[in-house]
Amino acid sequence: MLKIEDLWVTINGKEILKGIDLHIPAGEAHVLFGKNGSGKSSLLMAIMGFSHYTLGQGKIIFRGQDITNLPTYERARLGLGLAFQRPPTIRGVRTRDILTACAGKRPYQDLVEQYGFAPFLDREINYGFSGGEIKRTELLQLMVQDPKMVLLDEPESGVDMENLQVVGEIIGRLLQKDRRRQHREKSGLIITHTGFILDYINADRAYILGEGRLCCQGNPRELLHDIKSYGYEECAKCRR
Ligand SMILES: Nc1ncnc2c1ncn2[C@@H]1O[C@H](COP(=O)(O)OP(=O)(O)OP(=O)(O)O)[C@@H](O)[C@H]1O
Ligand SMILES: [Mg+2]
Repeated sequence: MLKIEDLWVTINGKEILKGIDLHIPAGEAHVLFGKNGSGKSSLLMAIMGFSHYTLGQGKIIFRGQDITNLPTYERARLGLGLAFQRPPTIRGVRTRDILTACAGKRPYQDLVEQYGFAPFLDREINYGFSGGEIKRTELLQLMVQDPKMVLLDEPESGVDMENLQVVGEIIGRLLQKDRRRQHREKSGLIITHTGFILDYINADRAYILGEGRLCCQGNPRELLHDIKSYGYEECAKCRR
């Protein structure tokens, strides 16, 4: 589904990613850990092709196609979808409008009803929304967009305990967790600090991002346990 080879990324002249290699097969969900400021969001933004993330070298291959130089909207059309860590407020555009744009010809009324979203449709995107409402809006947009691969940047942050379950279910749906492993087609790369989301997604692999590289990898729960026990600095030294 996604293959990244030796990706180097700078922002405003600051080198953030220094040779990322990553392979996410179809049907798999991988998790990215790393301390604040380590470059996790930057990696997702670079995969999505935001222009202020400058690629020094490296390649991004999505479903067999080299997308390294494609603009963001073409990556989205090919089936890459991102839920932002801090989604922007967009004055003058109603939530209904962005859902309609994301949906194309797919109907989305059922999803709106199922997730109690009707009261938000005519409000401007994220304007005055609570933190949890913003996160749910973001995931609803992704569901309507129906991407082949989801990039989720801390989807559970700021979400209360009850809504965590809803967020977990939505992510499970996005990743086709109701299907048997060999029948899943969709993939994900998910950033989490808490690991709450691991209860819902049966993630296949996890990495720790440190000093611009994926410095450690393994089973998501084991890795989270090690981070909690030993801290990021020790985990980064282990180089599994
Ligand atoms: N426009 C910018 N100009 C300068 N530095 C930037 C810019 N954007 C990001 N950075 C820096 O890049 C580094 C990586 O940021 P990034 O948001 O990718 O970290 P992160 O791992 O997602 O952190 P967090 O866990 O806090 O979300 C940070 O030190 C950040 O300050
Ligand atoms: Mg981040």
